[in-house]
Amino acid sequence: MLSRQVQKYDVNQLHAGMIVAELMTSEDGKAILSQGTVLTNSLIRLLNQWGIERVAIQLPERKPTYEPTLPWSFDRAAFNAYYKDTVDLVKTAFNSISLFREVPVARMQELANQKIDPLVDAPGIMNHLLMIRHTNDYTFEHSVNVAILSGVLGKWMGIRGQELRDLIFAGLMHDIGKSQIPAEVLNKPGKLLPQELEVMRMHASKGYYLLREVPQVPTVVMWAVLQHHERMDGSGYPLKLKGDGIHKFARIISVADTYDAMTSDRVYRRRTTPYHVIDELFSQMSATLDPVVCSTFLYHVKDFMSGNIVLLSDGRQAKIVHPGNYPNGLPLVETADGQFVNLEKKRDIKIYGLISA
Ligand SMILES: [Fe+2]
Repeated sequence: MLSRQVQKYDVNQLHAGMIVAELMTSEDGKAILSQGTVLTNSLIRLLNQWGIERVAIQLPERKPTYEPTLPWSFDRAAFNAYYKDTVDLVKTAFNSISLFREVPVARMQELANQKIDPLVDAPGIMNHLLMIRHTNDYTFEHSVNVAILSGVLGKWMGIRGQELRDLIFAGLMHDIGKSQIPAEVLNKPGKLLPQELEVMRMHASKGYYLLREVPQVPTVVMWAVLQHHERMDGSGYPLKLKGDGIHKFARIISVADTYDAMTSDRVYRRRTTPYHVIDELFSQMSATLDPVVCSTFLYHVKDFMSGNIVLLSDGRQAKIVHPGNYPNGLPLVETADGQFVNLEKKRDIKIYGLISA
């Protein structure tokens, strides 16, 4: 939770990026501006035309009310509160894009720098993400997760400083074009029809065109958004680019995107365990995903698995004692009744699900 300070401004003092603090209604009771709307230049022009004189604005000084605030001391409850708060801020920004077709880039960049960058260094972040209880806000949660995972993966690949900040921002923005996709296609449970799939796939280029309108967006971020569904063998979209023709950021975001989509609960599908995702990434790294990015991910992701509690196919619960050898070796586990089972050798026992991480 954030404490909020509010101040009223004359309309001629408003500028793009300010956040509306209170619901505003017209004389006949219709909502004009909802609380949390991020002002854009076109919106300020409209307020002038409508004859609005003053607007309550949320001041930028924000102090987290929970302690401690340092990300490296996060326990699960503090992480969940911080995460939910971040997702809410992304939701507000995305909703304003749907309504006004303008991206509040400065606000989104600030959000990436101030709220998401610190999570990239938080110990146990990969496990925190696995245990998120997902809500109906999948698109916004997924954007936050891909931003965090792209940052973590980028760091594992040696990316630092401004380049890493741009990568995290690109991860946050990668699906921004979905704000322009009709809700009945975007939220449809189950498989999309071919013509719906075509509409859905337009989100990559729509995101690119949205960002191209804004002068301060780094070019690398625009490339990443446009190309995040391109695949190494040319089987992706929208341009069917291949190999090195795909920007490095897009190749990193593709791996983060694939991992998060598979480990999240969706309306139509239960989440896959990270152990099965490792197999899937391993099988995709020779054709569709960048082998260097993928192998870096597979090398490091196992570091987070020791201590996780899983459900085995024989009904027993077990703790991961050793995560298995790189790249896709199976773990050594200790069952609740004290038996050690090497799943690499005992192939008839499988991991059914993740209980805690
Ligand atoms: Fe996407």
